[in-house]
Amino acid sequence: MSQTVLITGANRGIGLALTHACLRRDDQVIACCRDPYHARALHQLSEIYPSLSIHQLDVSRGEDYLELKHAIGDQVIDLLIANAGVLGPQLQGFGQVDYHAWAEVFAINSMAPLRLAEHFFDNLKDSERRTLVCISSIMGSIDLNQEGGSYLYRSSKAALNAVVKSMAIDLAGDGVHVLAIHPGWVKTQMGGEGAVVEADECAVTLLETLDRLPAGTSGQFLSYDGKPLTW
Ligand SMILES: NC(=O)c1ccc[n+]([C@@H]2O[C@H](COP(=O)([O-])OP(=O)(O)OC[C@H]3O[C@@H](n4cnc5c(N)ncnc54)[C@H](OP(=O)(O)O)[C@@H]3O)[C@@H](O)[C@H]2O)c1
Repeated sequence: MSQTVLITGANRGIGLALTHACLRRDDQVIACCRDPYHARALHQLSEIYPSLSIHQLDVSRGEDYLELKHAIGDQVIDLLIANAGVLGPQLQGFGQVDYHAWAEVFAINSMAPLRLAEHFFDNLKDSERRTLVCISSIMGSIDLNQEGGSYLYRSSKAALNAVVKSMAIDLAGDGVHVLAIHPGWVKTQMGGEGAVVEADECAVTLLETLDRLPAGTSGQFLSYDGKPLTW
């Protein structure tokens, strides 16, 4: 069944692949990105798929959410995908931390998904599917951290996982399902050339995983192929 999906960071990488995968299965996609004017790949897709709309959203800017909310109005959203994310500075080891950059990484990776949910909760809760997916990372797992370092990125995704868990509890009464999903090590600008999963494969598998989750699944940390991960 066709659904409406809102995706942040949709102009490249995993967000773009998710956008394309949703369009191929006839979903309506509200594709959000920082700079729509230069979002060439999205504009190319919009020539093929009229069900794609492109919107401006810098996920760290409060005023952008209000403008997006105004543009979307009461439109029902079945699936919200908080995908936009940053790795932060290259050097993130002990003694190398840039504290200003850390705050920026937190604003984008940890705070923005909650902000997105707060702004579009009404659109989501009126839908059939009522699902919020936050693209997290295995790097945010405290349990699976064997290597240390990467303070900014790891802590931002661990904080995101905590946000996901609280939202899953807080929104359960409204039937909204909230998940943290690790997309795999994906060949994107962030994942780099050595990554093992193609962005398209990640997107298709992730959407299939969502489709086959038992009804009501919420408050879990899963790999894109559905495998449960420890927090
Ligand atoms: N690739 C991997 O192996 C991997 C592994 C684990 C988790 N992840 C997570 O997967 C998600 C997508 O990553 P990716 O690999 O696709 O990375 P990517 O290729 O670097 O793309 C990142 C996307 O996030 C957007 N973005 C960054 N800051 C933003 C902001 N302030 N407002 C709006 N959009 C912003 C970028 O937009 P611009 O083009 O405007 O910069 C871009 O669309 C991230 O949350 C990442 O942490 C990725």
